[in-house]
Amino acid sequence: MRIEEKIKVLERVALQLEPDQIQRSELRDQVIDYTEEFLENINENKAFIQTDHKGKAIYDHPISEEPQPLNELINIFKENVEKTGLNPASGGHLAYIPGGGLYPSSLGDYIADITNRYAGVFYPSPGAVRMENMLINWMRDEIGYPDTAAGNLTSGGSIANLIGIVTARDAFNLQSKNFHKVVIYLTEQVHHSVMKSIRIAGLYNAQIRHVPMDDHFRMDVDHLEELIKTDKEHGLQPWLIIASAGTTDTGAVDPIDKIADIKDEHNLWLHVDGAYGGFFILCDEGKKIIKGLDRTDSIVMDPHKGLFLPYGTGIVLIKDRKLLFQSHYYKANYLQDAEKFDEELSPADLSPELTKHYRGLRMWLPLKLFGLKPFRAGLEEKIWLARYFYEEIQKIEGFEVGSYPDLSVVTYRFMPKDGKPNEFNQKLLDLILEDGRVFLSSTMIGDKFYLRLAVLCFRSHKEIVDLALEVLKEKSKILVERD
Ligand SMILES: Cc1ncc(COP(=O)(O)O)c(C=O)c1O
Repeated sequence: MRIEEKIKVLERVALQLEPDQIQRSELRDQVIDYTEEFLENINENKAFIQTDHKGKAIYDHPISEEPQPLNELINIFKENVEKTGLNPASGGHLAYIPGGGLYPSSLGDYIADITNRYAGVFYPSPGAVRMENMLINWMRDEIGYPDTAAGNLTSGGSIANLIGIVTARDAFNLQSKNFHKVVIYLTEQVHHSVMKSIRIAGLYNAQIRHVPMDDHFRMDVDHLEELIKTDKEHGLQPWLIIASAGTTDTGAVDPIDKIADIKDEHNLWLHVDGAYGGFFILCDEGKKIIKGLDRTDSIVMDPHKGLFLPYGTGIVLIKDRKLLFQSHYYKANYLQDAEKFDEELSPADLSPELTKHYRGLRMWLPLKLFGLKPFRAGLEEKIWLARYFYEEIQKIEGFEVGSYPDLSVVTYRFMPKDGKPNEFNQKLLDLILEDGRVFLSSTMIGDKFYLRLAVLCFRSHKEIVDLALEVLKEKSKILVERD
């Protein structure tokens, strides 16, 4: 076969990858029918579904040469993905740190995927890069960082923490032969992604100081200073303080302003993990609680938590853009054409990624479409819902609470008269998950098993919190009567 004929034959088959307008509209209609049904039923459907099969039938449909119609594929998804485990889009997701799923973000992703703009480098896609930089500048201004700050839209908080820690490492010009002498200060409540980042950054030999906490699980500043002084006396190099603007377990906000005083005095790097709580600064109540972010060196926030976006978007901000660039820029011969276009920072120079999802559009679209007001109201509503739950759960006989919520996480447990509380609360959680109307989780505080309520999903309103209270009352009664 001549080469032209061979290409023609291949092209005929490859063209199946490009559905025509009628086919596109048929495909789209089926997806819209499915997603509309999903959204219309979201308040009635369970937040958590326990199944024995756990989506195993996915393996019964291996990738093969033959095409399969979309309606069948949607059914496979429905049965094996949607109807197993947690529904994170549900307002009844009141566990861990709930995510979001704003509808316009899906449309942003739709446009981003179809146009497939390359948002890694300014030269091929200046507008897309400017959009991401504009969003970062907006956050920079909200937290009060100077114009010299820069940042990156990451896939989530874990990568954002990694970027912050790597930048801090290089800013202090730390050498691996001295890693065992550098000291990192954090509390035991810091998110595990921070410890993971420290390890990935090669700093597993660094000295980790667990700073004691007050009775609200916030970093104790006096202890922090004592530890730094002692380490200096012992010839070590105090380097990094990692504070939390909202811990995952209890939602505690470390006293960032006071910690910043200490970091200034001793010339340390202050990194704040605000993956969960950072966006609360958009509302007045949050601003009263989280103070001093402008005095830090790096901050992590997760739009897929506090800005109600679907999973896959974090942010890291670094006060001194030079340092972020220094740690992440690259040069490659085949990219030489892009080097002349330096009027904007390119995401690829500020993160480990080169090619990346154009995340800006899924954040820009809802912010522009709705305006900021509903975001501010939604965040403040979550703080008040947590306070409401904190009051109401104490009115149900047998329940006691942990510390007053700083943000939107409440810890509480049932105290059985004649049983062991840890076992009782584990059984209570099992019953709640079996029921599935709301999804709650637990944690250990010391050796005590606590239940947690975390309100952050934009679909969680008072009605859902009341449902959680009702379920807790109903299931604890059943257990008391049974035992
Ligand atoms: C305080 C905190 N930091 C970091 C993370 C990690 O973020 P991600 O899951 O987006 O990687 C989380 C996740 O829940 C978190 O709550």
